[in-house]
Amino acid sequence: MDSEVDIITTPKGFHCNLCNTNVPNKPSLDEHVKGRKHQTLTNVRATRTAQEECSVFVTGLQKDTSQTQLTEYFQQFGDVADGVYAIVQFGAVGGQQAALCPLVHQMSGLRLRVKPREKKGFKLVNKKKMDFKNLQEVLERLRPVLGQAGTLAENKKTARELLVQLIHEVFTEFFPDSQILPFGSSVNSFGIHSCDLDLFLDLENTKTFQARAKTSTEPVAEASSDDGRSEDSILSDIDLSSASTAELLDLVAAILKKCVPGVHKVQVVAGARLPVVKFHYQELDLQGDISINNRLAVRNTRYLQLCSWLDPRLRPLVFTIRYWARQKQLAGNVGGAGPLLNNYALTLLVIYFLQNTSPPVLPTVDQLKTMACEEEECVIEGWDCTFPSQPIAVPPSKNKQDLCTLLAAFFSFYATFDFAGNVISLREGLALPVTSFLSQARTVTPEADTKEGEPPRQTPKLGPLNLLDPFELSHNVAGNLSERSQHNFQRECQEAEKYCRSLQYLRKSAKGKPWGLVRLFTPHSGGLQSPDGSADKETTISIPFKLALLPEVLRNQLQLAGDGFRLLWFQRVCAAVVQVFQHILKFLPGSSAESAAAAEGTGPADGEAASGSCDSMDASWEELDMSGDSTAAGSGSPPSAPPAGSKRPLPSEGGDTSPAPREKKPRLGAGPKAGSPRWTWSQTHTVWAGRRKVRRELLKTAADSRPEGSNEELEIQVTDHMVGKEPPLKVPLVFRVQARLVGATQSTKVQLKLHPPSEGKEHFRDLFHFLEIFLPKMVDTLMEKGV
Ligand code: UTP
Repeated sequence: MDSEVDIITTPKGFHCNLCNTNVPNKPSLDEHVKGRKHQTLTNVRATRTAQEECSVFVTGLQKDTSQTQLTEYFQQFGDVADGVYAIVQFGAVGGQQAALCPLVHQMSGLRLRVKPREKKGFKLVNKKKMDFKNLQEVLERLRPVLGQAGTLAENKKTARELLVQLIHEVFTEFFPDSQILPFGSSVNSFGIHSCDLDLFLDLENTKTFQARAKTSTEPVAEASSDDGRSEDSILSDIDLSSASTAELLDLVAAILKKCVPGVHKVQVVAGARLPVVKFHYQELDLQGDISINNRLAVRNTRYLQLCSWLDPRLRPLVFTIRYWARQKQLAGNVGGAGPLLNNYALTLLVIYFLQNTSPPVLPTVDQLKTMACEEEECVIEGWDCTFPSQPIAVPPSKNKQDLCTLLAAFFSFYATFDFAGNVISLREGLALPVTSFLSQARTVTPEADTKEGEPPRQTPKLGPLNLLDPFELSHNVAGNLSERSQHNFQRECQEAEKYCRSLQYLRKSAKGKPWGLVRLFTPHSGGLQSPDGSADKETTISIPFKLALLPEVLRNQLQLAGDGFRLLWFQRVCAAVVQVFQHILKFLPGSSAESAAAAEGTGPADGEAASGSCDSMDASWEELDMSGDSTAAGSGSPPSAPPAGSKRPLPSEGGDTSPAPREKKPRLGAGPKAGSPRWTWSQTHTVWAGRRKVRRELLKTAADSRPEGSNEELEIQVTDHMVGKEPPLKVPLVFRVQARLVGATQSTKVQLKLHPPSEGKEHFRDLFHFLEIFLPKMVDTLMEKGV
């Protein structure tokens, strides 16, 4: 091509488009055109153009088609100079033209699509010379292994490794100097041969490469192209430093789809916390994920690996817990998203437990940091990820407990763990009360503090189970858990703990039943049983602690209350419960005497009871004994008002992790007595039966589609409507409700026990089922509003 077309005049002299170079005047231009760079590029361009003219692009090949077969087939149209994947390059233009003539190409029974190779204007792209030799080598080695993959686990492992190598080879063709780094169970020593293949495409070096290429003057030959889009355009089309994750993932997906044989079902999942490209590798029936911003995962994989090297008991324990959790439907989110624990979270729960055995089996992450040498210092995205690379740097544990003992201890550890009230930190090997954690998060300036240009650090998403990532301290790895899954996890731990104390677990007596571990792994039968099998649970409603839901003001107050936060929260919940019964559902509060009278049909007149005019009446509080598993409130809580409707100050309950003897329990404020508030409620209208229908009717005139229990005003209207329209019961329904704070030795929650009345049991049962859903939802709504 004539050099002149490459040169344009600029206000400052001349610009050579081919070399992307400016020169100030004519003599310099002449020198440039004669120079090595311009000459080399001109030659490269000429060669490339000739190659393009001699090449065709082929699609529709069978996935196991070899390059030899491809070459053999196209030999009939002319001498094939080269065949790389889908590009067939002939020795002369005639071959290409001949190959384009037939209307139908068929090979191994499949119809091929053959089209001219895209002709692309030559650009200077500083790119490593593409070399497909490695790729072919990997493919050749992969094929025989894949043939036997189904038979041997060892072969599967080799096949996985080769697949990773193949993907690596393909990606380096498009992204010079990039790396494919496996992480997760396939490399952290906790994998089974069917586990997913998690890959991190590290583009950091490619970014440097691209930045250098932009300023460098060295010409670099280009690569082949695929259908409709030139691979060799990738680095010239996309600026890696400014491209969005979605753009990059689309590119990764396109490369996977078009250039990695055997890969199917490629799908970009951009909405996840960590966006990925998912794919399926059919021969190995393998599910894979490729992410591009996941350096921390590669590092935490190394950490898990180190932990498993440190103590041989960790691996079997993790496998056992993972299997148990899967059998009990506590783990295994389909497609990676869902409300259950993931394997990573389960593994961290096991490690945290092992940090807390006596003596500890594993050191804390902070302790590990002190054992690392200077070269092992590692900070990723501002998070300190320093730990020794070799187990030799860490002294062995003095703990000699056997696996069976540790397994049983794992269950009892979590059977009585306050998940909602604490934040688990593997760094410190501690569970911090959520409120202390939040105040720390505000005041402490960790190494991970925001650096210039980085997004501000978030506090982790707190929920029913708070388990901090050991490195990325703003990430709650169990943040996806729902109340129910946390509850189920704890319930199954309680069940397992009970079983581990039995003779069957200890293998002393089988009594004809499955024994040992087998029984532990009995699949979850579905349906919720009570952990202790007591009838009590049948009429108990739980209201779990949900810090994230509370308004800022209340969160601050809880924070100030320190360890006493549970009690303060309990008071607010009780106030909200009173509000739901009294103001929303229009129940009448009454003393025991009134209740008894009402139960006998001599209580307040029906009309009165239903009118909701109970402003002057307080719910009655009766002091009860502390129940066994409620614990003492921490000291230092601010005195606060008793909940609405209470006649006595609230009892002090729930608090730090060590239950204090009863008489020594710290008091809240000016010495309230220990106990549980109790109310008696009565209602002459079944405001729970057919409530949804009334609500739907009322909603026809109101533009509100929120679910039941999320709109206070609407619920009051529904009750008023029902009370006004429906006939009263002959005998009012009277029953008692007793509130109890649970925490410290279980997940923080309020338990409301409803005592069935002697009369109207059927109405009571319906009411209970209604309240089971409605009451926690309505309390949440009121708490959110700040009752
Ligand atoms: P998984 O939970 O999938 O664990 O997380 P796994 O051990 O690989 O199990 P399977 O067999 O694939 O289901 C995979 C990896 O992702 C990172 C960790 O490196 C983990 O090992 N990860 C996961 C995080 O960094 N944070 C998370 O919250 C979850």
